[in-house]
Formats: sequence, C-alpha cells, structure tokens
Amino acid sequence: MNIEFSERLLNSLLLARHVVAFTGAGVSAESGVPTFRGNEGIWSKFKPEELATMNAFLKNPSLVWEWYAARKKIIGSTQPNEGHVALAGMEKMFPSFAIITQNIDDLHRRAGNTTVYELHGNIRRNYCLRCGMSYTDDDILLLEMPPRCTRTGCAGMVRPDVVWFGELLPQDQWDDAERASAQADVFLSIGTSGVVYPAAMLPMLAKRNGAFLIEINPDQAAGSGIADEFLQGPSGVILPLLYDVLKSAWSTKSIHSTS
Ligand code: OAD
Repeated sequence: MNIEFSERLLNSLLLARHVVAFTGAGVSAESGVPTFRGNEGIWSKFKPEELATMNAFLKNPSLVWEWYAARKKIIGSTQPNEGHVALAGMEKMFPSFAIITQNIDDLHRRAGNTTVYELHGNIRRNYCLRCGMSYTDDDILLLEMPPRCTRTGCAGMVRPDVVWFGELLPQDQWDDAERASAQADVFLSIGTSGVVYPAAMLPMLAKRNGAFLIEINPDQAAGSGIADEFLQGPSGVILPLLYDVLKSAWSTKSIHSTS
C-alpha cells in the first residue's frame, strides 16, 4: 500500500508534545480478534442483551461465562499486530503519549505501551460481584462454573472485569482519558465505529480543545466528518508506515539541528 502523508499531518506530529491514540476493535482485527459491528461482527451473530448485560448475567451466568471463556481463549491465543507494535514505538517519540482503548484484549500493553487507559475493562481480569475481590484467569480455572468467590463467608459470583451495556465506565480510567484528550496536541482515532458513548465523545473533546484529529479506518465511521485527516486503510498497514516516516523525519530533524 502506498500512502502519502500530508505536510500538515507530519508537522502536527513533529511539533506535538501530547499525543493520544484512541483505539477500537479495528486495531485488533489484524490480530484475529473479531470487531463488533459490520457483516462479520460479533453483534451480527450474538445478541448483546443476552451476553453483555448485568441482567443477562444474573439470568444465566453459565451461558455468559461460556461465552466469555470462549472469548478469553480466542483473545489469549492472539498476538499484537504491526499496528500495535508501531504505537508502542511511537510512545517513545513524544514527551507524553497515551493509549485510550475501548478494547479489552490487553494487546496494547503486550505490544509495549505503558500508558494505557482501558475504558471497557480487561478480559484477563475478573472480580467478585459481592466483595470486589480480584481473580486472575488462572484462579478461575480452578473453580466451578460459574465461579464463586473463595473468600470466607462470601461465595459471591465472579464476573469478567469488562464493562457491560448500561454500566458506568471505570471512573479513574475515564478521568485520565478525558484529561489526556483535552490536553492532546494530536489525537489519533483508530479502528473505531465511533458509535458507543461516552467513549465516542473523546475525539470531539480533543478537537474542541485544539487537537489535530487524525482518523485511521478502512471505512468512514460516525465521527469521520470532524477529522482533520482521514487515512483510509487497515491500521496494521498505515501505522507502521506512519511510524517509519516519523522516524526518518526525526532523524533528519536532529541532523539539521546539530548542523
Ligand atoms: P466496532 O466493531 O463498532 O468498529 C470497528 C471499526 O474498526 C469499524 O469502523 C471498522 O471499519 C474498523 N476496522 C475494521 N478493520 C480494521 C482494520 N484492519 N484497521 C482499522 N480499522 C478497522 O468496534 P468499536 O468501535 O471498538 O463495547 O466498538 C465500540 C464498543 O462497542 C466496544 O468497545 C464494545 C462494543 O459493544 C463494550 O463491550 C462495552
């Protein structure tokens, strides 16, 4: 794939101090994690109200657990793709670089990013509904299904630490995400349909506060209209190209500044 990055896009990044990459399911598509919407999306095959709500869990915890156990298995067998790796490299290029992700797959951390705000939780973690005690997947494996809390006198049901429909986002992650978005000089919105709120507000918040907004997606998404630059294509291809261009621009810049 051949792609020309505009001068204003490159300048915005070369001058940026605070950069945010806001990611959705599309960034993990090339790792083999299915997206949610579209013809092949998870929500075209399963009903979210039967699998991803508190009501569904209370009604049929075994069914919900069966589904999450299958998702844990799929996600556990995936690896970060070239897009994740490029984002991990980009973290080192800027004084501040944060990932704000709607993904629960942990692939940004596994790729090497260290500042990662997870708005929708993390599928590798679990917690007790009654007392809040945390459980790893290894702990869960040893328990019956649906798993019950082993703390003396509790026996509450253990659930995956992901945000279900109708639930609030984790407050600390949201606060950090809002602050980083408002502060961003450049905000990259990558692989998200931009239809799930409040996460979908963040590109607008960044733009209102003066960020240069770059969108990366093979298709136009809900928020594409407000982007300063729309880079059409898969993130696993575009991000490594962008990373390479930035690397060589930085080295030219440093050659110039020392000459
Ligand atoms: P969606 O499935 O809604 O959207 C995925 C986006 O990724 C679409 O815009 C695709 O065009 C794009 N895409 C597909 N392949 C891509 C690729 N290789 N590179 C880049 N982009 C690609 O996923 P999200 O926007 O993440 O919430 O969905 C938001 C939330 O809805 C999810 O976090 C989840 C879901 O219900 C919860 O579970 C709370």
